Amino acid sequence: MKTRFFIAAAVAGFTGTLAWAASDEITILPPAEGSVSVEQGLVAWGRIYEVASHPRCSNCHVGDSNRPMWSGPSYGKARPHGMNINAGESRIGAEHIPCATCHVTNKTGGNSGAHMAPQVAAEWQLPPVEFEWNGKSSIEVCNQLRDPERNGDRTCMDIAGHLDHDVILHWAWAPGGGREPAPYSLQEHVNDVLAWGVSGMPCAND
Ligand code: HEC
Ligand code: HEC
Repeated sequence: MKTRFFIAAAVAGFTGTLAWAASDEITILPPAEGSVSVEQGLVAWGRIYEVASHPRCSNCHVGDSNRPMWSGPSYGKARPHGMNINAGESRIGAEHIPCATCHVTNKTGGNSGAHMAPQVAAEWQLPPVEFEWNGKSSIEVCNQLRDPERNGDRTCMDIAGHLDHDVILHWAWAPGGGREPAPYSLQEHVNDVLAWGVSGMPCAND
């Protein structure tokens, strides 16, 4: 709800400064049961992996190094977050410098300049260690994302809903600051997640 409110406020008050705010309407409409073959599901998975392994997603989805990554064309060489940033076990940097020190929510578009800290949401933090994708293969991430123990106990419908409700994900498709957006669109990604789910969450190692 907080997310919705923020997007509504951003659209009303700051149209134009936050590109992602305008494109927030996502439809969650799963294909009919039995209408997606395993082959089609695997094709959808291929696109899901392109998104999951993209720097706009994988820079945060790191493991127990607790170090976010700086990778993607705007960074040149891939490397751990500068300034010795370490999210700690809290994943929000409570043990060191909190992420929110720099990654605050700034409705005036504080993330639009090159090399500025993305200021998308006060909840800017690393996901739990089990959601580590950075540097992992398509088969590894696929098996992870269908495992309730490692996906936050979510069905595909839950994952699709989660994707829509997270402002950080809306940002990933319109990041500004010279950063490359995640591939496809949020709507296409949600459609792929739903299609993969309806096809039975196949992975290439089945
Ligand atoms: C700022 C860091 C950050 C970025 C960038 C980020 N995530 Fe996440 N992600 C999180 C956090 C934190 C959670 C845990 C929140 C929860 O479980 O409610 C999470 C959880 C998830 C989950 C549910 C857990 C799972 O593994 O099933 C999915 C799916 C997900 N993210 C997808 C994405 C995608 C797709 C992108 C890129 C478009 C992305 N994330 C970018 C921080 C991030
Ligand atoms: C001292 C300020 C500061 C703190 C504290 C900080 N960051 Fe950053 N962060 C930055 C800056 C600046 C950038 C952008 C660097 C660039 O584009 O060259 C950045 C970029 C990032 C990126 C890359 C986003 C992308 O895809 O381009 C991630 C991920 C990230 N930070 C996560 C975190 C997390 C998680 C924490 C807390 C553990 C944190 N940061 C704490 C300043 C900070």
